[in-house]
Amino acid sequence: MNLRRPPKQMIGCWSKRSTDYGGETHPPEEARERDSLQLSSNEEDVMETLAEPRQAPGLPRLRQPAPDFEAPTTHGLKKLSDYRGKWLVLFSHPADFTPVCTTEFIAFAKAYEQFRALNCELLGLSIDSNFSHIAWERNIKEKFAVEIPFPIIADLSMEVARAYGMIQPGESDTSAVRATFVIDPDGKLRAMVYYPMSNGRSIPEFLRLVKAIQTSDEHGVATPEGWQPGDRVIVPPPKTAQEAETRTGEGYECTDWYYCTKQVA
Ligand code: BEZ
Repeated sequence: MNLRRPPKQMIGCWSKRSTDYGGETHPPEEARERDSLQLSSNEEDVMETLAEPRQAPGLPRLRQPAPDFEAPTTHGLKKLSDYRGKWLVLFSHPADFTPVCTTEFIAFAKAYEQFRALNCELLGLSIDSNFSHIAWERNIKEKFAVEIPFPIIADLSMEVARAYGMIQPGESDTSAVRATFVIDPDGKLRAMVYYPMSNGRSIPEFLRLVKAIQTSDEHGVATPEGWQPGDRVIVPPPKTAQEAETRTGEGYECTDWYYCTKQVA
């Protein structure tokens, strides 16, 4: 019995031609066979439970303490608490010696000093051994003349990957997706971004994101789409009618009472 079946609302949706579902293609005969399956609601519940992703319950939550860990890395054992007082970008990649991941690592390595200028460290992770990480780093140095200056977690137990929801069974049960977490100097999770296996991240976006969150913290403001350091920032909308009334007199540039911007240093 195939446990990777469509959710209830999809049963009976098979057309005469082969039908795509979840990236799988099923021939019409198989579709007819599936259509004829008459499951009791109890059986359906059992099937859905069996098809549940194998992952620790719940994803980490924004503004909550990021899941703690102590893990072997290419720079020795690292704990989340080692990064107290610094910003941290913790990012996973599916596997060493894969081309998209290699491009990401080269870009992270080249941007490393810019992250450090923001008091931000980088920490990679994949479900590979330290030997594999070291061999891959040496290969990147040999073939691309780029040294990887930050540690990479060797998460063979998948403990860190599971705690951070880096395993997405829709993509793979055994590899981490391209998950990226921004953790603040108090160890609180401030942003999380997930990309599929097939598409590489844009590393300047994470530099921009760290700087944007830092700017919001420092000035109590928001940042608009595509904001870059030096651009105007968004003043929080007024909470009362009285505030809305006086808003335009506060020296902000206001397009309307709810949409005001200002310059920060
Ligand atoms: C890559 O990094 O090239 C890659 C990794 C996993 C799946 C597909 C591509």
